[in-house]
Parts: sequence; C-alpha cells; structure tokens
Amino acid sequence: MKADLEAFIVSNQSFINQAMIEKIQKTTIPTPLKESMLYSIKAGGKRIRPILMIASAEAFGGKKDDVLSAALALEMIHTYSLIHDDLPAMDDDHLRRGQPTNHIQFDEATAILAGDAFLTMAFQIISEDEHLSAEQRIKIINRLSLAAGPSGMVAGQILDFQAENKTISLNEMERIHDLKTGKLLIYAMEIGAYIAGASEMELEAVKTCGQYMGLIFQIQDDILDVQGQESKIGKKVGSDLNNEKSTYPKLLGIEASIKEKDKNVLLAKQVLENANISSSILTHFIDYLSSRDS
Ligand code: IPE
Ligand code: IPE
Ligand code: MG
Ligand code: MG
Ligand code: MG
Repeated sequence: MKADLEAFIVSNQSFINQAMIEKIQKTTIPTPLKESMLYSIKAGGKRIRPILMIASAEAFGGKKDDVLSAALALEMIHTYSLIHDDLPAMDDDHLRRGQPTNHIQFDEATAILAGDAFLTMAFQIISEDEHLSAEQRIKIINRLSLAAGPSGMVAGQILDFQAENKTISLNEMERIHDLKTGKLLIYAMEIGAYIAGASEMELEAVKTCGQYMGLIFQIQDDILDVQGQESKIGKKVGSDLNNEKSTYPKLLGIEASIKEKDKNVLLAKQVLENANISSSILTHFIDYLSSRDS
C-alpha cells in the first residue's frame, strides 16, 4: 500500500473506532446487547467505508468532523450486515474479523438484535447531528436507506442467496455485487462529496467511481475467499465454495476475474480524471481495494 494512504487509513481507523465506541458506550442499552454490539466493533474491521467517505470529503476540501455522523452510520450498517450475513440461515460462518462470529460468541437472538440495533441507531445518529442542516440530514438518511435497504444491500443479499447452487450470467453477477456491496461504497463517495459541497457533475462522477470501486472490492473479496489467508482476512477461506455461491472466480476463473478487476480499476481512475478530481488518496484507494490481502 502507498505510504500516504497507509498513514491516512491508520489515523482515520482510530478516529472512527474511538467515535463509534464512545457513541455506543454513552447510550443507554441493556448490558447483553451493548456487550454484543461492542464485541463486533472491537473485533476490528478495516473501516473502509467511513474512511472512503472522509477521503471523498477531503477531495473537495471537506473536513472529517463534518462527515462523522454519516460515516459512523455507514459503518454501523455495514457491521449489522456482517452479523446477519454470518447467521446460520445465511452464510453460516463462524469466523469474522479474526474472532468467533457474533452468534457463536453470544447466541442467535442476541446477534439478530445487535444487528437490528446497529441498523436503527445509524439513522438516529444522522438525525441528531447538529453540524448538519435539516435538509442535509434528510438527504443523507434518504441516500442511506436507499443504499442499505430493499433497493440496495438487502436486495443484493437476497439475489446472492437465490443465486446459490446455480450458474448465473456475468451481468447478473455484476448486478448482485453492485447491490450488495457497491451501493454502500457509492453512498460513502456521494455523501462525503455532498457534505463537502461538490457540484452535481462532481457528485455524478464520484458515484460512478464508487460503483466501480464496489465491483473491484467484491471481486477481490471473492478471490480472497479462494486464495486468501485465514489469518489475514479474519474469515474462513472457502466459505463461498461451501455454500455454492455465485462468485467471480466460480463464473470466470481466477485469471479472468483479475482481468475484470483490472478493467474496473482503470475505469474508476478514468472517471476521476475526466471530472478533474485530483486526489492521490482516492487514486491509491482504488489500487488498495484491488490488491488488499485482508
Ligand atoms: C466484508 O466487508 C463484506 C463484504 C461486503 C465483502 P469488509 O472486508 O469491509 O469487512 P471488514 O469491515 O473489514 O470486517
Ligand atoms: C456479503 O458478502 C456482503 C454483505 C452485504 C454483508 P459476503 O457474504 O461475500 O461477505 P463475507 O465474505 O462473508 O464478508
Ligand atoms: Mg453473504
Ligand atoms: Mg458471507
Ligand atoms: Mg465474501
């Protein structure tokens, strides 16, 4: 990873972690639920989505404090999606962020409720952020509900589930990845730029870039499920194969999946260049999403 991006990621990881833990600590939540929520947060996680939002804001002169609530909400929704994704009724995984999954550490009911709690709290945090105008809060809440809900991540999850045990087309595969993973990355890119005051044209560009980033990120996730190291990815290798998931490597093989990823890397960079958005952090982020090993 490029040194400037590495420093950026490390410092923003602690910024996000501290803020998120504080938010949960100071809210009145019954102890078993609070413990379960803090467990999934403290297990780690790369914090790619909130950090990407900060990078997008900074590309337009924005400050990280201004996007904090939208970024925390995003990471909470992402964490909820992982807790539910790991449940026996879904991917039935036992390892996440290098630790036993939430339902293994606690129990299924607690894990389901911790997910529910993160999902709901996300919208509360944005609605209460006094740095944002009422109009901004509504727009951010609207974008997050579209990205996370039944026309975004949840839609992707059901299509992913339905595509188990069958062969789907490349277009269908792309659609699933766009919904289940891309939409939250698009939200990160769009809202960071929006709060920082980007123009309509710039917003369109960062959203398109976010869409390519989503594909790159999920293709690499699929590749790591085949070729990754458990100690690095913090998840069990081979989970997709076990569940007979539709993935890029399954559909195209590893070589062609890498080519597909590289194609999207070029497209993502081109969008930024064409819109005159010059941010070495965003450019290096695109490479990192593609080459990450954890
Ligand atoms: C995993 O996301 C789920 C996918 C969308 C593929 P991350 O790889 O960002 O997971 P954490 O947050 O770092 O654990
Ligand atoms: C899930 O994709 C993406 C979510 C919306 C949670 P995966 O099922 O591939 O994620 P991992 O590999 O378990 O992290
Ligand atoms: Mg899944
Ligand atoms: Mg999974
Ligand atoms: Mg996966």
